[in-house]
Amino acid sequence: MNILVTGGAGFIGSHTILELLNEGHNVVVLDNLYNSKLTALERVEELTGRSVTFRELDLLDVHGMDKLFSEHSIDSVIHFAGLKAVGESVEKPLFYYENNVTGTINLCNVMNDHNVKRMVFSSSATVYGNPAESPLTEDSELSATNPYGQTKLTIEHIFRDLCRSDSDWKVSLLRYFNPVGAHESGRIGEDPTGIPNNLMPYVTQVAVGKRARLSVFGSDYPTHDGTGVRDYIHVTDLAKGHLKALEHLEQESGAEAYNLGTGNGSSVLDVIKTFEKVTGKKIPYELTDRRPGDAAICFADASKAKKRLGWETEKTLEDMCRDAWKWQTKNPDGYN
Ligand code: WQD
Repeated sequence: MNILVTGGAGFIGSHTILELLNEGHNVVVLDNLYNSKLTALERVEELTGRSVTFRELDLLDVHGMDKLFSEHSIDSVIHFAGLKAVGESVEKPLFYYENNVTGTINLCNVMNDHNVKRMVFSSSATVYGNPAESPLTEDSELSATNPYGQTKLTIEHIFRDLCRSDSDWKVSLLRYFNPVGAHESGRIGEDPTGIPNNLMPYVTQVAVGKRARLSVFGSDYPTHDGTGVRDYIHVTDLAKGHLKALEHLEQESGAEAYNLGTGNGSSVLDVIKTFEKVTGKKIPYELTDRRPGDAAICFADASKAKKRLGWETEKTLEDMCRDAWKWQTKNPDGYN
C-alpha cells in the first residue's frame, strides 16, 4: 500500500517507516523537520535498501498538503506529526493547540477532499492523566493534566466525531506508554534536543559522560522501591504495532483505541539497575523531589491489542537498555 507518514523523520516515525518498507509498503513522508533530522530517513533507506518520498511540509500548509495528495495516490495515513514536550506545552499552549489540533484538522480536511479515510493516529497514555490505578485498559478514565495531553485527548474526540459523521472513516488510536530504545543496528534512535526530559535518553547521556548524574524524581512514591513506575516499550515493538493496526483498519467500525505497552511496570531504580547490568556502566544518581504532575504508577493492560490486532511486545527491558546504549555510543551527538 501507499502510506503517508506524517512526522516520519522523528523517533517513532523513522522506526515505523523502516518496518513499513521491510513489509513492502511504499512510503511518502511529510515532516517539517522542527524536531527531527533528514539523516534519520537517509539511514532508514540505507538499512532497508529502499527509498522513501520526502516532502518538507508543515501541517499548517493546507495548499502544500493538498498538492502532496494530488501527486501521490495515498491509501492510508499514519499520523505522528506533532509537538510532544509536556513542559513546553505548559509554557506555550497556543503553539501546541495550533500545531497539534489545527494541524490534524487540516490533514483530515485534505484527506476528505481526496477521499482518503484510513488513519492510524499516534496517541499517548497521557490521555489517562494521572491514573489512580494500573494496569490501565482502554476504558479507563480519560483526562488531561497538561496542554500536550489535552491536544491528544481532543484529537481522539475529533476522530470519534468524524467517524460518527462519516462511516467511511476508519481510525486506530494508538496510546503509547513509554517508548525507549533504538533499532538493533544502532543507526537510528532517539535524538532529543537539549537536556532530555525523558528518563532513558538522560540515562544514556550520563553513561556516555555527557551529563554528570541522574536526578531520580521522587523516592517516596507508593511503589516497591519508592520511585516512579512506568511501562517502557521498545520502539521496534511499538513500530510493529502500527503495522498490525494498519492491517486491521478495514475491520474497524469507526475509531478504536489500543494501549501499546508491555503490561509490565518498571521503576526508575529498576531501569538504572538493568542498564548497569546490561552495559557495565555505572549510573551515578541522586534522589530528589518528585517532578510536578508525575504519576506514581502507570502501566498498560495491553490485552485488547493482543486479541484484536494479534500484536504483543517481544523485547525486554534489557533489550531496551542494550539498544539505547548502542545508539548512544555509536551516535554521541545524535544525528548531528
Ligand atoms: C519516566 C519516569 C519520572 C527523567 C512522558 C510524557 C508522556 C509520554 C512519555 C509523549 C518518571 C522519572 C524522568 C529524569 C526521573 N510522551 N524520571 N529523572 O513522564 O512517564 O511520560 O514521556 O506522549 O506524555 O509525560 O516519561 O521518561 O519523563 O519519566 O526520575 O531525569 O522517570 O519521574 O517516573 P513520563 P519520563
